[in-house]
Amino acid sequence: MTVADLAPAFTLACAIHIDFFEALEVMADKLAVYPAGCLTLAAPDGELTGYAVSHPYARGRVPKLNHLLGGLPANADIYYIHDIAIDAAARGKGHAEMAVDLLAAHARHAGFREMRLLSVNNSGAFWRRRGFSPVLNEQVDVASYGSDATYMRRFFKPFAPT
Ligand SMILES: CC(C)(COP(=O)(O)OP(=O)(O)OC[C@H]1O[C@@H](n2cnc3c(N)ncnc32)[C@H](O)[C@@H]1OP(=O)(O)O)[C@@H](O)C(=O)NCCC(=O)NCCS
Repeated sequence: MTVADLAPAFTLACAIHIDFFEALEVMADKLAVYPAGCLTLAAPDGELTGYAVSHPYARGRVPKLNHLLGGLPANADIYYIHDIAIDAAARGKGHAEMAVDLLAAHARHAGFREMRLLSVNNSGAFWRRRGFSPVLNEQVDVASYGSDATYMRRFFKPFAPT
């Protein structure tokens, strides 16, 4: 994702996340803070049809909806997927799965052993099939994300020695 992608990504986010509005500045802030964690999906004609936003974060904390991150926590010990969204017409083709794989590879190479996210929009089954399970023993403030929001995690296998 580049700065030029922010306007179309924001338009897509507004169309998909009707109940979870975030201002354009919030996505711009995450892109500025951790550009390596922000991806876009483009159709052959160049139209933006999906995006992913992610960054290192601290376990037990969830970025508040529609708030600036303003920087990474000093004790960042997990890799956090803030959002993956694919335009309805482009779903069911493995794009989100590929985004998860790309972000997992990035996080492992960056030294993280665990990836976390908050599943919303009844997407829990999608995440379970990609190796995530609910975090049961930690309290997090997910009030701004609706009643079905579930804090989930996936552990990475350590790299095998070469
Ligand atoms: C959740 C979401 C990101 C999934 O995007 P997607 O690109 O459709 O996801 P994928 O194609 O990778 O996977 C969807 C299904 O298509 C299947 N699929 C993968 N490749 C496929 C292909 N080539 N042909 C047909 N189906 C395929 C996958 O197996 C998967 O099925 P499963 O979930 O039953 O295992 C998308 O529905 C979305 O944007 N939802 C709204 C935003 C949202 O809620 N995001 C999550 C916030 S936590």
